[in-house]
Amino acid sequence: MEITGKVAVVTGGASGVGRALCLGLADRGAAGVVVCDIDREGAAKVAAEIEAGQGGTGGHRAIAVHADVSKEADVQALVASAEALGPVGLFFSNAGIIVAGGPEASDEAWARIWAINVQSHIYVARTVLPGMLARGGGYLEITASAAGLLTQLGSAPYAVTKHAAVALAEWLAITYGDQGIVVSCLCPQAFTSNLLNTSRRELGEEELPAAEDWSGGSAQAAVDGVLTSDQVAAATLDAIGTEQFLILPHPDVATYERRRADDRARWLRGMRRMQARLSGQAQA
Ligand SMILES: NC(=O)c1ccc[n+]([C@@H]2O[C@H](COP(=O)([O-])OP(=O)(O)OC[C@H]3O[C@@H](n4cnc5c(N)ncnc54)[C@H](O)[C@@H]3O)[C@@H](O)[C@H]2O)c1
Repeated sequence: MEITGKVAVVTGGASGVGRALCLGLADRGAAGVVVCDIDREGAAKVAAEIEAGQGGTGGHRAIAVHADVSKEADVQALVASAEALGPVGLFFSNAGIIVAGGPEASDEAWARIWAINVQSHIYVARTVLPGMLARGGGYLEITASAAGLLTQLGSAPYAVTKHAAVALAEWLAITYGDQGIVVSCLCPQAFTSNLLNTSRRELGEEELPAAEDWSGGSAQAAVDGVLTSDQVAAATLDAIGTEQFLILPHPDVATYERRRADDRARWLRGMRRMQARLSGQAQA
């Protein structure tokens, strides 16, 4: 799908890959970029950068919208604000957080990560798809994670919610793919961003992946190298052109997913070994 001339909305646009997507969309000729974030100031800063012509390509139209995407009314207001720039052609449902731990993580933390990492995508689909369907087409990107295809050592809430996000993206692609709706699901491994700080802000200190507890999780993700947010955004925007469903900025993830499907017991044994190795490293 063409980016040029389209209005694009990005949630979580103030930081990390969301910010890079906003700047990249402007550079690639989007008619308007809607920078949505719960971080009001951060979103305003990114919109101002775009309007000032960050990247040297001249100013582009951008607006900042403050929204908590876990609230349906906020998502509805976001889409209404975006439509002031024109019909929404591309929507990047990207905001997300991470919570450390397993079943023992608090109900509040489980509820918050579920609301942001899963329910927000449902609100987005519910709000934006009717207009896209009426216009005969549109593009919806859901940012999941390689954790949604494999797992996330050290974080059951992240693994579970990202698997749910992948399942939703697949379902939407199957159900609306013949009606002009293109769905992509972004599943990167580690890239540089503010994810831990953002999650700390959203959840409070006690739910945090304390750096020492989290080193296993980030080391797992870093096995195949840590990309930058710009690299992940560029891979995502390139994939729009080819209307690719699964976007894997770390290509090895495809091999890991195949191995997992081929022999689940072997894959689980391998992951246990990796966990043991990484927790050994963390204690050393
Ligand atoms: N960084 C990684 O290694 C990595 C790997 C795989 C997937 N991801 C996913 O990429 C996406 C973007 O994260 P990032 O790594 O760029 O992190 P980030 O923290 O830099 O950016 C996320 C943005 O989302 C915003 N946000 C959080 N909750 C929100 C809410 N309720 N409503 C609106 N905005 C909200 C934050 O304020 C922040 O600006 C997330 O879905 C994350 O799970 C990240």
